[in-house]
Amino acid sequence: MRFTRLFISAAFLVTASAWNADAKPKYVGVDGCKCHKSEIADWERSAHAKAFDLLSPGKKETKKKKANLDPDKDYSSDSKCLQCHSIGYKEDGGFTDISSTPKLSGVGCEMCHGPGSEYRQIHKEKTTRFTRAEVKAAGQKFGSVDPEVCNSCHKHKDNPFRNDNFDVKEALKDSRAFHKLYPLEGNH
Ligand code: HEC
Ligand code: HEC
Ligand code: HEC
Repeated sequence: MRFTRLFISAAFLVTASAWNADAKPKYVGVDGCKCHKSEIADWERSAHAKAFDLLSPGKKETKKKKANLDPDKDYSSDSKCLQCHSIGYKEDGGFTDISSTPKLSGVGCEMCHGPGSEYRQIHKEKTTRFTRAEVKAAGQKFGSVDPEVCNSCHKHKDNPFRNDNFDVKEALKDSRAFHKLYPLEGNH
């Protein structure tokens, strides 16, 4: 009897800690996605990963002038820029400033895939046996089916370099748009 009760409460604890659909997902940073080694290696070489550097003075001077920005100004702590040039700026678990959260600079995984704390839990527990509906409910996003994922930066009115011809479908064909796709491995 005592054992049964213990067993039931232990099982309950495990399920309750698994993930909670009502919890607001937090950002976990690129380190929180570290099972995906190949994607990380591709991403590190990408322009998205390096997008924070563009905010430094002297970078892209001619283009900044054209966009009415001051090429000598340091924009790397400017909240108007950080919402698109860092991971989860001012959100739970996200970027605050370059000295306290250096690993959260640039357009990281979660800017395209959604803040990871909740869906990562599902990946860990179910390895590859989860459904898209399930991870979506936990905050995961799919840029290949939801154009808003890319447009929220690329077509946003506050993007000084906005290109109104940006087309998600076309952009996704660009090998520089994101990492290559690797088969999902069993052990998360
Ligand atoms: C709403 C999102 C958003 C905001 C806000 C934003 N950017 Fe960007 N930025 C982008 C995107 C997306 C690109 C890639 C170019 C494009 O739009 O296709 C970009 C590109 C750039 C580039 C490279 C331009 C080029 O042609 O090589 C620089 C430099 C830059 N941003 C600086 C800034 C600065 C400085 C600020 C703040 C004053 C800022 N950005 C605010 C999204 C944003
Ligand atoms: C610029 C956007 C972008 C960034 C940044 C990005 N990804 Fe992706 N990723 C995608 C898109 C688009 C897909 C195709 C599936 C989808 O629509 O999400 C994808 C697919 C994946 C998949 C396969 C998922 C599946 O269901 O087949 C994994 C795993 C993945 N990304 C991991 C990562 C990791 C880890 C990082 C960071 C190192 C990262 N991604 C950064 C856009 C991005
Ligand atoms: C959080 C904001 C953000 C999101 C989300 C985002 N991007 Fe970007 N993207 C940028 C910035 C900033 C740059 C500029 C990097 C540079 O010029 O060095 C960029 C650059 C690019 C480039 C040019 C790369 C190069 O090497 O010049 C492509 C293509 C691109 N993005 C496609 C996409 C696609 C497709 C998605 C959605 C799957 C996406 N982006 C999502 C911010 C974003």
